Amino acid sequence: MSDNTNWETVTMDEGKKALVILDQTKLPNSIDTLFLTGQDEIWDAIKELKVRGAPAIGVAAAFGLYLAALEIDAGSFDEFYAELKKKAEYLNSSRPTAVNLSWALKRMEKAALANKEKTVPQIKEILRQECWKIKEEDTQTCRKIGEYALPLLKPGMGLLTHCNAGALATTKYGTATSVMYLGQERGYGFHVFCDETRPLLQGARLTSWELSSAGIDTTLICDNMAPSVMRKGWIDAVFVGCDRVAANGDTANKIGTSYVALAAKEYGIPFYVCAPSSTVDFECENGDGIVIEQRDPEEVTKKWYKQPMAPESVKVYNPAFDVTPAENITAIITEKGVARAPFKESLKKLLL
Ligand code: MRU
Repeated sequence: MSDNTNWETVTMDEGKKALVILDQTKLPNSIDTLFLTGQDEIWDAIKELKVRGAPAIGVAAAFGLYLAALEIDAGSFDEFYAELKKKAEYLNSSRPTAVNLSWALKRMEKAALANKEKTVPQIKEILRQECWKIKEEDTQTCRKIGEYALPLLKPGMGLLTHCNAGALATTKYGTATSVMYLGQERGYGFHVFCDETRPLLQGARLTSWELSSAGIDTTLICDNMAPSVMRKGWIDAVFVGCDRVAANGDTANKIGTSYVALAAKEYGIPFYVCAPSSTVDFECENGDGIVIEQRDPEEVTKKWYKQPMAPESVKVYNPAFDVTPAENITAIITEKGVARAPFKESLKKLLL
């Protein structure tokens, strides 16, 4: 098993003109770094979850768009911008649910548009700075989410998380895990339970790896064990990340999250969603407006097995995310503070 030091989830090597990612499909067995230069390679890496997690794919796309911009040979701003938009649309088509992807790409487009009077080489330099800014801001944002979350907890508490909303899903700290890393720094002695997170096992392969290698007391459970550990009184709070928060607080996150929220409600356990403001989509009124990514049936039937674990011809439904209704969420923790119900008002007040 590899250890959890000296790696970066997503960055850029300017000399090699490459997006640099840790290949998350290989974890926890090996730490492989990929240098991606072509747009198709970057698109595939996002689609295939080599880089994944809402904030991390936003950062990857921003670096990817800058690398694409370097290749645009245009004499005028209009020509350059039209090409840039096409390249952004292409990257944006890699995954539909996490709003951070389109948010980061739009932010890059806006940076170009705001400087249309400059020369094309100058705009390329502005885009270079902008993608680094997006990365650096993500680290600060995650840290602040942890700072807002920590006062909600007491030393020695048991925490449950689903999927991976950790350092591997962001540039550092994670969103849902930020409070765990901060707690670790400050001697809180949390006990963290990680749902394995079927079908792609982000909880088992990624979260339990990054937390345990950071020295945090970590216990892996199968998804269907969460209510049982809650009943035992081992869970004092649930922390999850999210891929898109609608204006009313309905939240899309990894499939199975809504089930954990229901169990938490049953056992009277607070259920916290950690959301950078870039994940809040005020244009989406409620959860019904969130597009849920459907993925390959083989992820359910074959992916992690030596032999197929289901009949060849069986129908498979494989949504990658589900929506947790706002009424099952105790609070949404952002880098600007903690929003509580009614979320329609509190999110606006906090973030707009
Ligand atoms: O399909 P994935 O692995 O990209 O799904 C990731 C999640 O659902 C995370 O919980 C979410 O992106 C929040 S990451 C801070």
